Amino acid sequence: MANKLWEKNFEVNKEIERFTVGRDREMDMYLAKYDVLGSMAHITMLESIGLLGKDELGQLLAELKNIYKTCERGEFVIEDDVEDVHSQVEMLLTRKLGDMGKKIHSGRSRNDQVLVDLKLFTRHELKDIVENVKVLFDELIDKSNKYRNVLMPGYTHLQVAMPSSFGLWFGAYAESLADDMQFLLAAYRITNRNPLGSAAGYGSSFPLNRTMTTELLGFDTMNYNVVYAQMGRGKMERNVAFALATVAGTVAKLAFDACMFNSQNFSFVKLPKECTTGSSIMPHKKNPDVFELIRAKSNKLQGLPQQIMLMMNNLPSGYFRDLQMIKEVFLPAFEELKDCLQMAAYIINRMEVNERILENSMYDAMFSVEEVNRLAANGMPFRDAYKKVGLDIEEGNFVPDKNIHHTHEGSIGNLCNDRIQALMEHTISEFDFEKITNAEKTLIE
Ligand code: ARG
Repeated sequence: MANKLWEKNFEVNKEIERFTVGRDREMDMYLAKYDVLGSMAHITMLESIGLLGKDELGQLLAELKNIYKTCERGEFVIEDDVEDVHSQVEMLLTRKLGDMGKKIHSGRSRNDQVLVDLKLFTRHELKDIVENVKVLFDELIDKSNKYRNVLMPGYTHLQVAMPSSFGLWFGAYAESLADDMQFLLAAYRITNRNPLGSAAGYGSSFPLNRTMTTELLGFDTMNYNVVYAQMGRGKMERNVAFALATVAGTVAKLAFDACMFNSQNFSFVKLPKECTTGSSIMPHKKNPDVFELIRAKSNKLQGLPQQIMLMMNNLPSGYFRDLQMIKEVFLPAFEELKDCLQMAAYIINRMEVNERILENSMYDAMFSVEEVNRLAANGMPFRDAYKKVGLDIEEGNFVPDKNIHHTHEGSIGNLCNDRIQALMEHTISEFDFEKITNAEKTLIE
């Protein structure tokens, strides 16, 4: 590998090169577009402090726009002998514009370059995740409203317990996503701060205008302390991973319920035939593989914060190459979660529920507490009523009254879906996606 930015007068050992680069070039492909955006902001700022001429800036920006377009067309490559995305972009500029290309790295290090790339990438991906969570949320609320009056058994210890409803079941997962959205918002806020200008982690003797790059890139504010900016590598990823993991946790639980409720022994929900898979030996099979894979993928994603934590937790302050490895688990995670969210929404939309399950007398006992409460409301002490109903059940004398009256907030008769929706809408309105979209558009147009 020739053409290293840091190459001096000796050849680097090939094995060392293979090992240190690893899969990093593949990972850097996720960041290419954002590396270009970061460079645009950086050189615009360099011109403003006299480190580039106006004409130079114009030519460099035009060429960076070309590279950006190459990325958008999916044609950007990191050439065989080039170490990483940062080197590739600088090399392309130098190949085209000569010495001018070599000027862009003043006041910058690959350390703050990769930091800013990761932040720009992550906030963009979070925007997608938020949109996908909202789609699943809407499907769940729709189904919850549609089946608000259809009862189903509720379980504790996987033993039939009390009356629940499909309205409650679907709605519970919607509210879970509304809570998860708070984590995404916190993750977004931490992400949307500019690390550029921290250079190798200790700033620069050039009079960098960090406020200017912060504004150009549409960040909320900056990571002020340059040492902290570098310390944020790994921390930002871990915090975002927690938010992704909390969403994944909701999706995994939903998938488990769906698999279980779809089994013949429950038969509460049914997947349309075309959303199931078959068996090579058992001709009758319609398996819920989709939910099983959603479950496994989402469970895997819940390990992401731990994976990241183990890589970054015991590092002192300052840059270390360890941090490069985080990219391998972090960058692909967004696509994996999006896929699960989209698939879950697709299937929930097509899921049918069994409106007649309670005709099976197996579930009669779940009305026991209703009966106890009725007796207690009529004056019998609760414990006596409990004993009487318990005895009736034991002796086969219990006749369930299936007309139930749950009216408090969040109960079968009062789902509060409108309030859950308002909570979700409010959280989403706190993300300022328009600001980042506009900033990026201004840079590339
Ligand atoms: N590939 C490197 C990473 O992801 C880029 C930064 C390299 N910086 C350095 N000092 N070696 O961390």
